[in-house]
Amino acid sequence: MEEFLRGEEVSFLVFSDGSRVVPMISVQDHKRLGDGDTGPNTGGMGTVAPSTNMSLDVHKQIMQEIILPTIKGLDAEGRRYQGVLYAGLMMTDAGPRVLEYNARFGDPETQVIMARMKSDLVPVLKGVADGQLGDVKMEWTKEPAICVVLAAGGYPGEVETGKEVKGLPALKGVPDLMVFHAATALRDGKVVTVGGRVLGVTATGQNLDAAVQRAYDAVDKIHFEGMQYRKDI
Ligand code: GLY
Repeated sequence: MEEFLRGEEVSFLVFSDGSRVVPMISVQDHKRLGDGDTGPNTGGMGTVAPSTNMSLDVHKQIMQEIILPTIKGLDAEGRRYQGVLYAGLMMTDAGPRVLEYNARFGDPETQVIMARMKSDLVPVLKGVADGQLGDVKMEWTKEPAICVVLAAGGYPGEVETGKEVKGLPALKGVPDLMVFHAATALRDGKVVTVGGRVLGVTATGQNLDAAVQRAYDAVDKIHFEGMQYRKDI
């Protein structure tokens, strides 16, 4: 038996060198396949950063009551944790509750995190690996970011693969836009689909509306047979 948790999900990722913890920006994933959170659960159909459910106070509460005790607890058990810790949280009326932990980055959380990261990632990862995050401070752009996942027909069930992805060249050089390849391959000079979540179309903007507009303008230019995506990220 488990407590039923009602609320919106937030993905909260941190870097840990075993004792020092540096949080990343908060992200909201959209797990259901269909608009309005309908249909089957997926690995994630799109993300927004920052999460619209995160105040400074709640951020502090999550660090103090969830993340830091977890890192400390692992250390106390002789399992010093060096890496990325990703807490999947449910923001309930009674406060944030942990749904799951992942010992990795999130997908498609990482697309929006990278789009907003101003700091160089390498020294941070080295600090994590060496157990010396020291006084590393991450810098983030103020512009919100959004990622829309383009998934193959059939996803999250059995997927159709080998479909040609068209429209990508038109997006080359578009400012504040990145199209991350997730399940594609290059065959005979053509980009084809090879899995469920095919592309992560990621954009930043001066405000959330501008980021959303930019991402969906790009989505409109991309096509492959069976392509499915949410229109409400
Ligand atoms: N987006 C969910 C995950 O990476 O587990």
